[in-house]
Amino acid sequence: MLSFGVTDSKVSSPSDISPGATLGRMQFPVYATLLTDIRDTVLTITVNRPDALNALSSRVIEDLEHCLAAVSEVLTNDDGAWPVRGVIITGAGKAFVAGADIREMTAMSPDEAHAYSSRMHGVTLAIEQLPVPVIAAVNGFALGGGCELAMACDLIYAVSTASFGQPEVSLGLVPGFGGSVRLPRYVGQGLARELLFTGRRLNAEEAQRAGLVTALFDTVEELLDGAHSTVVLVGRQSPAAVALVKQTLSATQGMTTADGLAVEAESFRAAFATEDKVEGTRAFLAKERPNFPGR
Ligand code: CAA
Repeated sequence: MLSFGVTDSKVSSPSDISPGATLGRMQFPVYATLLTDIRDTVLTITVNRPDALNALSSRVIEDLEHCLAAVSEVLTNDDGAWPVRGVIITGAGKAFVAGADIREMTAMSPDEAHAYSSRMHGVTLAIEQLPVPVIAAVNGFALGGGCELAMACDLIYAVSTASFGQPEVSLGLVPGFGGSVRLPRYVGQGLARELLFTGRRLNAEEAQRAGLVTALFDTVEELLDGAHSTVVLVGRQSPAAVALVKQTLSATQGMTTADGLAVEAESFRAAFATEDKVEGTRAFLAKERPNFPGR
């Protein structure tokens, strides 16, 4: 059982320092490697190790695990309150994330490397399993584990100076945080193989043409505003329906058409059991704005 700060009790966390942003009744701790901020039901998580270009050390992974579990627990238990309608992940300074932590990896045994990989896989799955959209706001380098973190998100928005790549082979390594699996899904097998075999970087425009990036922005401020606006737009829709759409998209990855359609039919059934569906269809016919109960 995770412990995190609740507004009426002592903060207890991996980095038990002083209170951070408040989410429902829960208060984030101040993480050693993350900043958290909540505005208009948008949670922004900033990886904050700018001196190491936000490399994903074990400590960053631990903080991400805790933070995502905290959000998930609040969203699961808040019975329709939905204090967060979307999450933005970004980086402090000139990088989004420049990869796994190369310094830390120099001392890792093969078994420790496997555990490191598995833990970050868990983080990427936790992002996929959150019932709200997660946007990677890529403010600079997204290399190796950074590109892999971005690809675990639902959408990748980027500043025009960002760059993307999987340079693992230049270090005698292979992708360890999901790149072998997710990169081909975004850009197709051919380009994915070329990028993984050569370590070549894509600039932001190339990444957009390749289908990795959904939207490009001139400045980091515009990038964060753009991501924020998308979450605000999501916030006007049925939370239950958005969660079902996300679940269906994740569950049907890699399925045959027939199997995927069977999952979609189950989601459609599930939507008909929600109060949001009753309210959404009623409001349409009454020519009113829906007031979704979020269940
Ligand atoms: N791990 C640890 N430290 C890193 C790092 C990383 N991935 N990337 C950068 N840093 C550190 C640098 O060592 C440097 O530290 P010092 O100031 O103490 O020397 C600091 O961040 C600033 O970096 P640079 O001086 O290199 O900055 P730059 O602007 O000249 O270059 C860069 C930027 C091109 C991104 C370059 O830093 C770079 O190539 N970084 C490594 C990128 C990479 O190879 N990533 C893949 C890692 S392997 C991986 O991720 C495996 C996996 O799939 C799990």
